[in-house]
Amino acid sequence: MSTTTVATMLSTSTPPRFPFARPAAAEPPAEYARLRATDPVSKVELWDGSHAWLVVKHSDVCSVLTDERLSKQRTRHGFPELDAGGKAAAKNKATFVDMDPPQHMQQRSMVEPFFAPDHIDTMRPHIQNTVDSLLDAMLREGGKKPVDLVEKFSLPVPSYIIYGILGVPFKDLEYLTQCNAIRSNGSATATEAAGANKQLLDYIGNLVDQRLAKPKDDLISKLVVEQGIVTLLQHPDQLNDLKADPSLAKVFVEELCRFHTASAMATRRVAKVNITLRGKAIKAGEGIIASNQSANRDEEVFPDPDTFNMHRIRGSEQALGYGYGSHRCVAEWLARAELEAVFGTLFQKLPNLKLVTPFSEVKYSAPTQNVGITELPIVF
Ligand code: HEM
Repeated sequence: MSTTTVATMLSTSTPPRFPFARPAAAEPPAEYARLRATDPVSKVELWDGSHAWLVVKHSDVCSVLTDERLSKQRTRHGFPELDAGGKAAAKNKATFVDMDPPQHMQQRSMVEPFFAPDHIDTMRPHIQNTVDSLLDAMLREGGKKPVDLVEKFSLPVPSYIIYGILGVPFKDLEYLTQCNAIRSNGSATATEAAGANKQLLDYIGNLVDQRLAKPKDDLISKLVVEQGIVTLLQHPDQLNDLKADPSLAKVFVEELCRFHTASAMATRRVAKVNITLRGKAIKAGEGIIASNQSANRDEEVFPDPDTFNMHRIRGSEQALGYGYGSHRCVAEWLARAELEAVFGTLFQKLPNLKLVTPFSEVKYSAPTQNVGITELPIVF
């Protein structure tokens, strides 16, 4: 075959199919490392034969997620949907998740106080209590016979906490009343503020319902809990460090959310105008998938990225597990607080926790889905 024919074939060849498959267990698809080295802004083919741009370097992902020439509106032509279900869901009434400025911030700011770090701090005792109660119930039942940790722990922790949020305790209502009053410049009457609270709670309820309406396995915090348990068992030295000093849970969770990107398909946009990224011309109406999973393993930002090391020296560089820019996860501090309580407590209460099966037999979600574990039999 002549060189020209090969070159023509290469230039006209169909882009690779996306999402890429994980090669095994929780390992990110191998294509990401190859593309970071050879073609960081490239085209991929989606389920319906349409094409989108795939961006894999940390700096480019940050630039995509802060570029106001790109849109999150899923109703725009060219927004990269990853399956037929996504395309159908895109027609639903949008929440702020899928809005652009200025509506995005107007609506996001209504729920933001509820998820703000200082408010989450007030919830820590409730979160800790939820974790303790679930583990105490497991201890009462005994751990000599195999127990499924997904069913008994990693699924109920985030679900109970979110339902706890929806059955909002009185002190939170008071807190929200204050927020509303402040928002309306102190002029709201008590009744108006109470009405606004009801709206606010309905709104949060809808948001959460939408996330829970997806298959159970998509509950993202659940995915992170499971990955964390398996990862610790695979790194006994770091597990011993954490057992000896549970305050390491914070740095452990930080590394966990870098190493295993539980929400690896959410950060997608569509170009509103023509733009150029790393010399590639992206036209208005073309979709962009900014891979936070790949960015979290970018060797230019995280040396030795495929090694799990909770003691890794970190500077100001940010891991992108919760996204970046104005759409960064509104519930990040809640998710982190849950995970910190889980990993600060689990191996204190169940120090002899062991998997029943070898690592090679752990049952993972389908290789093209977000990484999750379907069941995790343990003894303790
Ligand atoms: C460990 C758990 C979680 C991870 C890793 C995670 C990850 C993410 C990521 C990557 C984004 C950015 C999407 C984008 O830029 O397009 C995001 C946004 C969002 N997340 Fe999370 N999330 C988690 C838990 C939660 C929970 C528990 C909730 C709700 C109770 C939640 C609600 C949201 C919302 C509403 C947004 C959209 C924010 C906006 O558009 O302004 N997340 N999340």
